[in-house]
Amino acid sequence: MRRLPLLLALLCPLLAAAAPTPPQSEIRPGALWEDDHGNHINAHGGGFLLHAGRVWWFGEHKVPGEAGNTAQVGVHCYSSPADDLVNWRDEGIALRVSDDPASPIARGCIIERPKVVHNAKTGKFVMWFHLELKGRGYAAAQAGVAVADRPEGPYVFLRAGRVNPGIPAQNAPADPAKEAPIYLRDLPGGQMARDMTIFVDDDGTAYHVYASEDNRTLQIAALDDTYTRHTGRYVRLFPGRYMEAPALFKKDGKYWFIGSGCTGWAPNAARSAVADAIWGPWTELGNPARGENAEKTHFSQSTYVLPLPGKPDTLIYCGDRWTPKNAIDGRYVWLPIVWEDGKPTLPWRDAWRPADLR
Ligand code: GAL
Repeated sequence: MRRLPLLLALLCPLLAAAAPTPPQSEIRPGALWEDDHGNHINAHGGGFLLHAGRVWWFGEHKVPGEAGNTAQVGVHCYSSPADDLVNWRDEGIALRVSDDPASPIARGCIIERPKVVHNAKTGKFVMWFHLELKGRGYAAAQAGVAVADRPEGPYVFLRAGRVNPGIPAQNAPADPAKEAPIYLRDLPGGQMARDMTIFVDDDGTAYHVYASEDNRTLQIAALDDTYTRHTGRYVRLFPGRYMEAPALFKKDGKYWFIGSGCTGWAPNAARSAVADAIWGPWTELGNPARGENAEKTHFSQSTYVLPLPGKPDTLIYCGDRWTPKNAIDGRYVWLPIVWEDGKPTLPWRDAWRPADLR
């Protein structure tokens, strides 16, 4: 009996640590956002998948300090009931970096902006991501792909590389040497692929959308029916506009784009555009952000536009507020998209509830 106080003293911190985080009721853009273990969600540059009644959030697992901008762990996965989106369960590491220094995804490489789609034909979950090889800065500019049998993984790395080697764009310029020297330079080895997203159209066709040509263009490339390879069909868009952080969505039969300018981790004025067909022509609509910090997109950079489950015309902008000196502290800026004169806009909100959008 005399041991009981000692036992309690030992157990109490453990019990406290094991206690579930009380449910949260609102999204607070830019604030710390706790998962079900009380840890700040670690899924930066995220992508989302609606599957089996849950939304699955995949993102870059960052570690403290500047080293956190390289992949020390891999891609982290969380999930939330589709009608919640505020409370996220930690599903663990979906794609793990490799201990083999010869692997393209060796620990210390850069894995950014992972996006997962489900392929109905193969039954596989397919993850694409921007890959930079260890020790080579941002020079490799490759796209990596991995597959899994379950949304949370484990994902098995298939391959990485540049896009569509040897294949000209559908809308290749008349005089590439003059108009598109980097596109021309990269034709034999494939187009550069940095910031990216994957968009699946209503007909099930998936597209890889990526900053290319040293960020001078965005390119859209179709994937094959397994979602694991490019088909060779692609277009070059927005030449000379230096767009990054692409997010694509569809509404009222049109294709909509939200992205950013090109200033590294520092925020800039967002971009938006619309098209009647995915291959274009695309028309720019300007900076969708509104209000006091619009020129810095509320100190955020886009990563995804998430349709509200069950109400897909209601859209949520998901962005990152990067903290490159302590990467793990990066915050999430999620804002409901508000339509104004037929354009998507992003007014600031201190706090909001997904339930209020229903
Ligand atoms: C950003 C980009 C991020 C990351 C960063 C590196 O512009 O969107 O994903 O690549 O640059 O500086």
